Parts: sequence; structure tokens; C-alpha cells
Amino acid sequence: MSQNPWLKGRNLALVAGIIGIAALAFAGLAALLVNIQQRKAEGQEYPLKIVFIGTDELDPEVWGRNFPREYDTFLKTEDSTLETKYGGSVPHSKLEKYPALVRLYAGYAFSIDYNDARGHYWALEDQKRTKRQDFTAQPGACANCHAAEAPQLIAKMGWEVFNHTPYKQLQDQLHRGTSCADCHDPETMNLRITRPAFLNAMRERG
Ligand code: HEC
Ligand code: HEC
Repeated sequence: MSQNPWLKGRNLALVAGIIGIAALAFAGLAALLVNIQQRKAEGQEYPLKIVFIGTDELDPEVWGRNFPREYDTFLKTEDSTLETKYGGSVPHSKLEKYPALVRLYAGYAFSIDYNDARGHYWALEDQKRTKRQDFTAQPGACANCHAAEAPQLIAKMGWEVFNHTPYKQLQDQLHRGTSCADCHDPETMNLRITRPAFLNAMRERG
């Protein structure tokens, strides 16, 4: 039985179509396998590094590209609207809440301005803003716990000079409050101590 040429052409097209679809499916499968391999390799790599974090990187947003969940919880410390019976995060003046403090702290900077502490996000901002800064010149030593730049400035200026420099003179070099770099080694994410005051104290205690 001889085939009709039209039918033959149709069969050829069909075969070519099937081969084409099979090739596409195969390519898709191969891509998927490669992707699975990559993700598995990433899963084993700890800490996962999507971006490189330099040893002097202070910006939590950059660290957050590798650790989005931790960065997310860090950003929650910006919230100043939470009201709880334990204080919450709504900023308030302790002097207004407990007027007797004005008397008890008389002659002392805290009688001028003393507020409830806010989340880590605000550590530097609240320090720059406190009216205690106007009452008496505060020293650079204040920045030890409130500015992420402190360890780098201490390395540059020296421990004594950093602490003695008036805060107002130092403050233009302070841009970030709490940073991931305060507590973590960017290479391994291991906890680390970055403040000489604490190291010095521990050394003195043996
Ligand atoms: C040893 C670490 C450390 C040093 C040094 C330090 N602070 Fe603080 N500061 C904290 C901590 C922790 C809090 C939040 C807890 C609290 O308020 O009790 C805080 C809270 C604050 C607040 C917000 C609450 C308030 O009091 O109105 C301000 C402003 C402030 N500090 C300013 C300063 C100034 C100015 C200096 C220097 C005289 C200073 N800090 C030095 C750790 C420190
Ligand atoms: C004040 C200190 C401090 C700061 C600031 C801080 N962390 Fe942590 N972080 C810790 C401590 C403490 C742990 C718990 C470590 C443990 O349990 O071994 C931790 C745990 C982690 C872990 C889990 C580590 C592990 O081995 O499982 C990650 C990831 C992490 N932090 C990321 C961040 C990022 C990103 C930031 C900045 C947005 C940040 N941290 C800021 C103290 C800090």
C-alpha cells in the first residue's frame, strides 16, 4: 500500500514536533537538576553568602541581603507604636511620668531630659537628640555603646583620644547606631566582642 505524499509530509512534521518537544523537556529537566544541585550546595554552605560582607561593613541593610530574616527582626526595633503594660516601645518622658525625678536629679543632666529607651534602631539618634547634650558637654566615650562606628574610630584615633574628644566634635562621624557588625564576625557570623571597654574590664578581672 503506497502512502499518499501529503500524509507522509504530515508524519514527518509530527515526528519533528515530538523530537522538538522532547528536546525542550530534556533541556528543562537538565536546568532543573542544575538548579537543585546549586540550591543543595547553598544549603550546605553556612553562613550563606549571597553578597560578600567586608570586614568594615556597618550597614545592616548589606548584611540583611545574606540574612533577610534577622534583618527583618532588626527593622522591627524601629517600631515606636507598641503599647504594652510593661512599657512597650512608645517613647515617653520619665520626667513627666515621675515628676519627683526632676527634684532628685537636680543639678544633674538627667533632670533636664530622661526618656524611656527605644529599640536598637534608635540608639544613635536618641543619643544625638537628648537635651542632656546641651546641659553639659558629653564626651566621645558616650559613643562606645551607641554608635557602630566606635570600633573603627577607636582604631583610628586611639582609645584615650576617642573617649576624651567632645561628643559634639565627634558626632558628624557617627551615622549608625546598632549594627550587625557590633556582635558578629562577617566571615563566620560567630559572636565577637568589639568594644575595648568590655575587653579591658574582663582582662582586669582576670
Ligand atoms: C556602657 C554602654 C553605654 C554608654 C557608655 C552610654 N550609654 Fe546611653 N544607653 C545605653 C543603654 C543600654 C541604653 C538603653 C537602656 C536604658 O535607657 O536604660 C541607653 C540609653 C540612652 C538614651 C535613651 C534614654 C534616655 O536616657 O533618654 C540616651 C539619650 C543615652 N543613652 C545617651 C547617652 C549619653 C549622652 C552617654 C554618655 C554620657 C551614654 N548614653 C553612654 C548604653 C550606654
Ligand atoms: C547586640 C548583639 C547582636 C546584634 C547587633 C546582632 N546580633 Fe545576630 N545574634 C546575636 C546573638 C547573641 C545570637 C545568638 C547566637 C547563638 O545563639 O549562638 C545571634 C544570632 C544570629 C544569627 C544565627 C547565627 C547562627 O549561627 O545560627 C544570625 C544569622 C544573625 N544573628 C544575624 C544578625 C544580623 C543580620 C544582624 C544585623 C541586622 C544581627 N544578627 C545583629 C547578637 C547580635
